[in-house]
Formats: sequence, structure tokens, C-alpha cells
Amino acid sequence: MAGLEAHYSAGDIEARILAAIRAAGLNPEQRLLPEELGALDHFHTGGVRASRELLALAQIRAEDRVLDIGAGLAGPARLLASALGCRVDCLEMSPDFCAGAVLLNRLTGLDERIVVHEGNALGLPFPDDSFDVVWMQNVGMNIADKQTLYGEICRVLKPGGRYAFQEIAAGRAATSYFPLPWATDPADSFLVSAEEIRSLLGERGFAAERFEDTSEAHLNMAAADAAPSPLTLGVYVDNLAQKAGNARRSLQEGQIRLVRAVFRAK
Ligand SMILES: C[S@@+](CC[C@H](N)C(=O)[O-])C[C@H]1O[C@@H](n2cnc3c(N)ncnc32)[C@H](O)[C@@H]1O
Repeated sequence: MAGLEAHYSAGDIEARILAAIRAAGLNPEQRLLPEELGALDHFHTGGVRASRELLALAQIRAEDRVLDIGAGLAGPARLLASALGCRVDCLEMSPDFCAGAVLLNRLTGLDERIVVHEGNALGLPFPDDSFDVVWMQNVGMNIADKQTLYGEICRVLKPGGRYAFQEIAAGRAATSYFPLPWATDPADSFLVSAEEIRSLLGERGFAAERFEDTSEAHLNMAAADAAPSPLTLGVYVDNLAQKAGNARRSLQEGQIRLVRAVFRAK
């Protein structure tokens, strides 16, 4: 196994998750609440706080059909399904993460509302005009072919549907500290500037409803994020402290930027 496949692999993930749940004093035989798992299953900058903020911006309704691309362990999908009551399809390329997502959907009783599909964002296994909302958090930086990615998002969205995302964009200098949370080495990191993301989406007919750089806000509040618990990303992310430290340093030095946006399809 090499490259991204290795980067996002986590053998025995179900056993690891169950052990962490028990170590946190929770009983996996009883229904868990999605909010009890937030430090484990929101694998992106800002964690569950950032997911809640994007949820508020995206104005998703209970009747919306949502696709989460690169859904990881489906923490954001469970937040959406439990907070809003909507149905969410998760598309995820890592078989280990899919297994973890299915387990956590079952333990939270949300498996009726969330379906996990193993697959690639560059060939979405859904018909045209399937979704009201496409949601994506910290995934685009793994995908070199952004034209195909945005074309696929446009294709599966209904006319007037929304694309809500947060992303890491290129800063003013090349990324130099590895490993990072999304790539062990530069071969799997495909950052483009915020302006380029906006321009590529514009070429596909998307109109920006919100487009924000949240870098400074994140740096100012990140220190308050950490609360010690056995339920952390470290359950399935190797070298987490080193990766998180490199990401923070990259942000502080302007090598990367954080972008959050909601776009409307034509
Ligand atoms: C940093 S994680 C974010 C996971 C999730 N979005 C979250 O915020 O909790 C990036 C995820 O994108 C997935 N991914 C990367 N490239 C992908 C692709 N081409 N198709 C589908 N999933 C992809 C990875 O397997 C990984 O689960």
C-alpha cells in the first residue's frame, strides 16, 4: 500500500474505535449520542466547531438530500442527520474509514438516515441532479484534478443546489513541513489558492453566496479546542501531534490558508 491509500488506512479500526469508546467511559451496547464522539470523528481543521459553523452557513433543510464527499468516519454526516433530520449519503475512498463510519452510524442509531458508499470523488456513483447539497470538508487538497471534481459536484447537484465546503488553500509560499494531516509527503498534496478555487467554481457556473478566509479566526481560537480524552483523531491517525503541529506552523507562516464557502449551482 502506498500514497494516499496508506495515508488514510487504519487497520482494525472498528476494534480501535470500540476500545476508545469504552476507555472514555461510554457503553457501545447503549445508543451513543453523535455529540459524544465529536473529538473522534470530525477529521478537519476546527473539528466539530467548524462543522457546526458550516452547517449554520449552509442553511440545510430537513427535506434536503445531502452528499458528503470524502466523509471520513461520517462525524459531519451524523451532525447533519441528527441536528436537521436530513438524509445523508457519504462517499469515502478509504475502506477502513467506511467501516468506521458504518460502525458509528449503527452505534448512534443513525444508520437509517446515513448511507456509506465506498468510491472516488472523481467518479461519483450517483445519477445527475441527485442532491440538494454537496458538503465537503478538508478533502480537495488530496485531489489534483479539480476540474473533474467540480464537474462531478455540479453534475450530481440539482439546479440551484448548494456546495458547502471548507478547504485548505495554498498560501504565499510552498508547503514545506510534512507529514501533514492530509498528506504524508508532497506527492499527495494538491493545494491551489483561494482565488483559483473560486475561479474554477465560477467556470462551472457556481455563484458564491459566502466565501471566507477563516485562517486568522482559527489561529486565534485553536488553543481552546483541545480537551484530553481517549476519543481523539489519534485513534486512527498516526503521528497526529506531529501532523497537527506542522499544519499549525504552515498556517502561522502563511504557507496555507483556510477557506470556507457556500456556492449555488446554476
Ligand atoms: C482529512 S479527511 C476529512 C474527512 C471528513 N471530511 C471529515 O471532515 O471528518 C480527508 C478524507 O477525504 C478522503 N478522500 C481523499 N481523496 C478522496 C477521493 N478522491 N475520493 C473520495 N474520498 C477521498 C480521504 O479518504 C479522507 O477520509
